[in-house]
Amino acid sequence: GNHRRKLPVIWLEMNDSGDNNISFLNATSPYVGQVFTYMIDLLYSNPFMAAQGPDALQLLTNAAREYSGKFTLVVEGAVPTKADGLYTVIARTPERPLTAWEILRWLGPLAEYVLAVGTCASFGGPSAARPNLTGSRPIQDVLQRPVIRVSGCPVNSDWFVGTLAHLILYGMPEVDDQGRPTLFYRDTVHRHCQRRSYFGQKVFAEKLGDKECMYSVGCMGPATLADCPYRQWVDHVSWPVKANTPCIGCTNRDFPDGSTPFYQS
Ligand code: SF4
Ligand code: F3S
Repeated sequence: GNHRRKLPVIWLEMNDSGDNNISFLNATSPYVGQVFTYMIDLLYSNPFMAAQGPDALQLLTNAAREYSGKFTLVVEGAVPTKADGLYTVIARTPERPLTAWEILRWLGPLAEYVLAVGTCASFGGPSAARPNLTGSRPIQDVLQRPVIRVSGCPVNSDWFVGTLAHLILYGMPEVDDQGRPTLFYRDTVHRHCQRRSYFGQKVFAEKLGDKECMYSVGCMGPATLADCPYRQWVDHVSWPVKANTPCIGCTNRDFPDGSTPFYQS
């Protein structure tokens, strides 16, 4: 039949700015309520659950046991590894704190799929940018297993929810050589940019705010894979170039260190 299972999900937020779950809350096709109701079975989530303290930890322990080999591990944020990982503590036992690092190493091998959501979880991102005082690393670095990397700073809700939908309906999506679903990261931003004809005519912006191609002021669209120009953001209404700001390469492996300075004039 066409009845599909809901995806059992354990969701961990580690070292990021919270931008990814805020972006997820903007999902409109489907809406976030529909994601929670029809698509995923949220077993544990430090950003979204009501339970706290020992109750939350109990839910996590139960979920890991009951759904071992069957849950999808969603991770936002990089994993801090300095000071034994104490920069991100997710739970506390009577004896000691449970760090994000430790929980990741515990749950990673038990998950059916691991989804790195956002550029910090995928590649380190701003959390691992110079000088990286917390020793933050991409989650793949501490897991000896494949990770689907849905990068972006933040993630576009469609990239994340679309990947969840793919897992539910068809299983593992096709990914590129960096682990990103080709459904969303196949072409450069530049390829479908609405200012591409200016680029073709070599008509460039002289300063930020000009309407021409912003390659001259540091646009990274030609070196960045994402479908922003036609998918757009927040109910599909706009995206950086349409909002008159260059692409800063937020889905890239070396973001943000490889993108700075963001603007050149
Ligand atoms: Fe390419 Fe950026 Fe120019 Fe658009 S504004 S055409 S993405 S260089
Ligand atoms: Fe990020 Fe560039 Fe899209 S900065 S949001 S990939 S246009």
